[in-house]
Amino acid sequence: MKKYLMSPGPTPVPEDILLTMAEPMVHHRTPQFIEKVGEAMEGLKYVFQTDHDVLIFTSSGTGAMEGAVSNVLNPNDKALIITNGKFAERWGEIAESFQAKPIYLNVEWGEVCDPQEIAEILQENPDIKAVYTQLTETSAGVVMPIKEMGDIIKKTDALFVVDAISGLGGQKFYMDKWNVDICVAGSQKGLMLPPGHAYAAVSEKAWKMVEKCKQPHYYFDWLTYKKKLVGDHKDPFTGSVLHVKGLLKFLEKIKSDGIENRFKRYKVLAEATQNAAKALGLDLFAKEPCDVETAIKIPDTVDGKKLVKLMRDKYGFTIAGGQKHVKGKIIRIAHMGYIEAFDVISVIASLEIVLKELGWDFKIGSGIAAAQKVIIKKYKF
Ligand SMILES: Cc1ncc(COP(=O)(O)O)c(C=O)c1O
Repeated sequence: MKKYLMSPGPTPVPEDILLTMAEPMVHHRTPQFIEKVGEAMEGLKYVFQTDHDVLIFTSSGTGAMEGAVSNVLNPNDKALIITNGKFAERWGEIAESFQAKPIYLNVEWGEVCDPQEIAEILQENPDIKAVYTQLTETSAGVVMPIKEMGDIIKKTDALFVVDAISGLGGQKFYMDKWNVDICVAGSQKGLMLPPGHAYAAVSEKAWKMVEKCKQPHYYFDWLTYKKKLVGDHKDPFTGSVLHVKGLLKFLEKIKSDGIENRFKRYKVLAEATQNAAKALGLDLFAKEPCDVETAIKIPDTVDGKKLVKLMRDKYGFTIAGGQKHVKGKIIRIAHMGYIEAFDVISVIASLEIVLKELGWDFKIGSGIAAAQKVIIKKYKF
């Protein structure tokens, strides 16, 4: 059976990237490879839309999240964490594990915060060191108002830290223009690579705080990366050589497409998926749906867990279900990375077949038609 990977990470890897990564191993300390690391670090600036340093770690995305806490917050430091999903909650878990003192702005999953509330909390707590959020909260399919938040946070001493692990490369994002101080990402989503690389772009304001941080850390000591990686393009450890090669291929692709064209393409795929869901009589879960995945509510009469299992095991489509309290109640279809228009049409076709099998009443083909209408009108092949 042909398999379709349409989960919000890992995502499919294009054939030319896979081939590059299958080339013979090279040594990580050769001048030729060190030059490639430098090229990759420089190229990543375009993806983050930044002039700041971009660090590369051999780790999953959470490693960069951990570093963005342990290199910034000392024990008992205050941090504001906006929690509207599982990954937002992870910021809190990491901060607490380093004995920092998070202040939580709790928002329902699928909803976004009012940036004005952040302004008020920062005014009441001028000692807050950093504000942590997500560009796209993958557990809920929601996009946060990063620009508006940046406008508020830049007027304070606090750092603005954004987890763009699922959003980077697909969801509109401009690190410098939007006044983000630290942005973290991972390889296995919009960057079309296998899991294994994490990235962190770090502003000057952030480096100043990192230099003062006394929190103990070893592998993720960002000052070591600054000295060795930024300084000499040498990974302090034996980093994933293959990921660097794959990353350079991805950077070639995104530059030749143009990042703005990519943003537009994922927006169209999101609209096609959203309209398909509505045509099937289903509601979206997110109040502000993001462009890199669509979270769809599953009606009580339909077994959401069975739906995900049937799509994967009977028809070959790996999508994601809900996590924690929305397990079985939502599904999440990704349209990030190497996902194109006909992948979206195909996943909706399989969703329709499974919904019929599970007894949901709708006109067969209505979801596909709704998606096709958007694609015909707006998608650039
Ligand atoms: C927004 C977000 N943050 C963090 C993570 C965790 O990344 P990783 O599993 O690569 O550590 C994910 C993964 O799905 C994510 O989507």
